[in-house]
Amino acid sequence: MDFSAPRGMRDFYPPDMELRNRVFDAWRAAATLSGFEQYDACVVESLDLLKRKAGEEVENQVYAFQDKSGRDLALRAEMTPTLARMVAARQGALQFPLKWFCIAQCFRYERMTKGRKREHYQLNLDVVGEEGVEAEAETIAAAIRAMRLMGIPDSAYRVRVSSRALLSELLAAKGIEPKFHAGAFLALDKKGKLPQEQIEQLLRDEGLDAEASAKAFGISSISSLDEAAALAGPDSPAIARLRELFSLLELHGCGGQAVFDVSVVRGLSYYTGTVFEAFDVKGELRAIFGGGRYDNLLTTIGGKPTPAVGLGFGDVVVGELLKDLGLDRPADRPELYAVGYMDAAQRDAATRLAAFLRSQGRPVDLHLRPQKAKAFFSQASERATRAVYLGPDDIAAGRARVKNLSTREETEIQLP
Ligand code: HAM
Repeated sequence: MDFSAPRGMRDFYPPDMELRNRVFDAWRAAATLSGFEQYDACVVESLDLLKRKAGEEVENQVYAFQDKSGRDLALRAEMTPTLARMVAARQGALQFPLKWFCIAQCFRYERMTKGRKREHYQLNLDVVGEEGVEAEAETIAAAIRAMRLMGIPDSAYRVRVSSRALLSELLAAKGIEPKFHAGAFLALDKKGKLPQEQIEQLLRDEGLDAEASAKAFGISSISSLDEAAALAGPDSPAIARLRELFSLLELHGCGGQAVFDVSVVRGLSYYTGTVFEAFDVKGELRAIFGGGRYDNLLTTIGGKPTPAVGLGFGDVVVGELLKDLGLDRPADRPELYAVGYMDAAQRDAATRLAAFLRSQGRPVDLHLRPQKAKAFFSQASERATRAVYLGPDDIAAGRARVKNLSTREETEIQLP
C-alpha cells in the first residue's frame, strides 16, 4: 500500500494547516478590508460551462467525468466561469458593481513543476459591473494588502501590468489586422517559456506571414510605457487608461509595487483589457497572482454584457515565497494551556479546570491520563504556551500554579 497522496494532490498535516490558515486569514482579512463580500460554489461544475468559454490551455487540463446519470461534469480548474454563471443567473436581482471574493480549491491536470500542483487553493477577487479602471486598482491593491498582511516585504515582489487593448493598438500600429490579435496574444504569452523561433512559428500558425510575425514578436521588447506610448500615438486610450491605473495605485499606497511590462499577456483567452501578474523579484518562482479585465465573459456564457475585472492568487507559490523569506513558521505560538495531573485522584479537578479555562475562551490541551511531572512538562513544551500540573497538594490548597513556558514565570490561580 502506498501511503502518499495521488500525484499532484496534497495532504495538510497540522504544521501545513497552520501555514495554510495563515494565508487564508490574510486573504480573508485583505478582501474584507477592501469591502469584498464572500461567495462560494461547489467544486463540481458542468463540463458544458467550462467548454463554452473560448478554448485555451486550461481546457485540456480539466478533470472531467460522468456521474451515474451520464451528466458530463468536471472539477473546476478556476473560479471565473463559475462566478460568471452565478452572476448571470441573478443578473436582474444583483446590485452592480459587485465586489466578491472566494477561496476556491481548483484542479488542473498540469505538468508538475515547482509551484505547479494538480490541486491548489486560490483567492479570487472580482469586481463585476464596473468598466472604470478604479476596479483594477481596487483589486490589485487588495491583493497587495494580502501580501503585506502575510508579512511579505514590498521589496520581495512586483506586479507587472500591461493591457491587451494596448497590445491590440500596438499590433494595429504594426499593420496587423484585428482578426489576428487574439491568436497573437496567446503566442506572445509564451515569451520566456518558449524560444523566439517557436513563438514566431505560433504566430505564423495563426495566419501571420513571416514579416508580420517578426513585427509582432518585436512588440515584446518594448521596455517602458513611454516607448509604448510613442508607438501607440498621443491619443491612445489604452495608454491613458494604464497611466490612470498607475496613478490610482499610487493613491492606494501601492505605487512602488506596480510596473509596466508589455510582455504580460496571460494565457487565458477571456481577458480583454488590463492584464497583470505578480512575480518575486528574484525571478525564481511562477506567478504569485494574476488577473485582468474580462468584459465579454458574461456574454460568452449567455448573460447580459457586463464589464468585469478580477484576479486569482494561489496558495502554492506564495507558500514557497514565504518559505524562501523564512516566514513559513509563525513568529509567535498561539496561546494554549496544557493541563495535566499526577494521579487519577486529580483527574476531576483537572477536567473542571480545563472546562473553566475553555469557558473563558482560553484554548486548553487537557492531558488525558496521569503523568509524571517531567513527562508532562516535556510534552507540554512541544505546543503549549502555559502549563498547569495538578498534584495532591494543589487540590488540598484549592489553588494551582500556571507556568509561562517561555519566561518560566509562575502565577497562582484558584481552582474552580
Ligand atoms: P491563473 O493565472 O490561471 O488565473 O491562476 C491564478 C493563480 O493561481 C496563479 O498566479 C497561481 O498562483 C495559481 N495557480 C494556477 N494554477 C496553479 C497550479 N497548477 N498549481 C498551483 N498554483 C496555481 C486564473 O485562474 C483566473 N481565473 C484568475 C481570475 C479571476 N481572473 C479574473 N478573475
